[in-house]
Amino acid sequence: MKTNFFFYKKKYSIDPNGIVICKSYSNIALIKYWGKHNNKIQIPLNSSISFSLGKVYTVTRLIYKEKKKMNLSVRVFFSGKEKTSFLPKILEFFHRISFYCSYLRYFNFIIETYNTFPHSSGIASSASSMSSLALCIMKIEKKLVYSLKEDFFLRKASFLARLGSGSACRSIYPGLVVWGCHQSIKGSNNLYAIPYPYEVHSIFTKIEDTILIIDDKPKKILSTKGHKLMNHNPYARERFKCANKNMNRLISILKIGDFQEFGELIEHEALTLHAMIMTSRPYFLCMKPNTLNVIQTVWDFRKNSKKNVYFTLDAGANVHLLYPIQEKTSILKWIYSDLFSYCKKIIESFCLSN
Ligand code: PMV
Repeated sequence: MKTNFFFYKKKYSIDPNGIVICKSYSNIALIKYWGKHNNKIQIPLNSSISFSLGKVYTVTRLIYKEKKKMNLSVRVFFSGKEKTSFLPKILEFFHRISFYCSYLRYFNFIIETYNTFPHSSGIASSASSMSSLALCIMKIEKKLVYSLKEDFFLRKASFLARLGSGSACRSIYPGLVVWGCHQSIKGSNNLYAIPYPYEVHSIFTKIEDTILIIDDKPKKILSTKGHKLMNHNPYARERFKCANKNMNRLISILKIGDFQEFGELIEHEALTLHAMIMTSRPYFLCMKPNTLNVIQTVWDFRKNSKKNVYFTLDAGANVHLLYPIQEKTSILKWIYSDLFSYCKKIIESFCLSN
């Protein structure tokens, strides 16, 4: 598909002042996106799939007011306080998307945003914040084009969110979401995410995600830098092949409902992501000693109890523990008794279903 499909073609006419409000979930990838084409337009080098997460989301209020001068004008407030430090990223985002949303230049914007998860929790908020902002912008576009269809609305929101932060394009939808072209997934493409289109066994419709906050400081390695380093990572080519195969494996696991296979796959994906981070030049270590303590405790517990609890990681030290809702009582009890001492905070979230 060509990107000009998303151009805003109508002549500008809108009520001069208004407010739109949207919320977007955070997401955790099962098959990770790590590595993109070197062209600033966030085209991934492998397809990825994530679960959007309940309870952890961003709410954005976008206030717009008509102005005379045609330029991009934005102020950002986070949890009630003006954040000039967020401006460069937001302005770059507005600049990139103004190509597809020419009306942006006719307004002064005030962005007011907050997260439902604690600010310094180490949970990446760029996905949920960029996606809620993209949805707000699409709400304005919807005011300009009354006939705009729901599926175009969501697709373009995902397309715009991607230009803010790659993984943000998956946060537009609840449940399992795929981004990046994969030969076995119909409709998958590099420009926007789509809801996972195939059969999913009922065991995967109610999964808990308990997030163990091991490090609540902002990440040292920014994903933008990490993605770039994949262009020279000697193992990158194998990694992309492996991600591709893992996606095929996951499709059949999701259908059959094999939770052990699922768990083994997501742990392998998480450790592969960190292996890539550790083997880049310059190399990084995102895990902390307590990340490893948690992983070892999970493996020991699983061996002894035969419970279905598996971990995944993003590009940081924190651990997501995924398990079926049926085992929630006993696993949560074990988390608080055996893992609490390794964590700064525990956030009880869950995977949304499609
Ligand atoms: O969307 P970005 O550029 O912040 O990259 C996200 C990368 C991972 O969270 C590590 C993996 C993923 O697919 O979400």
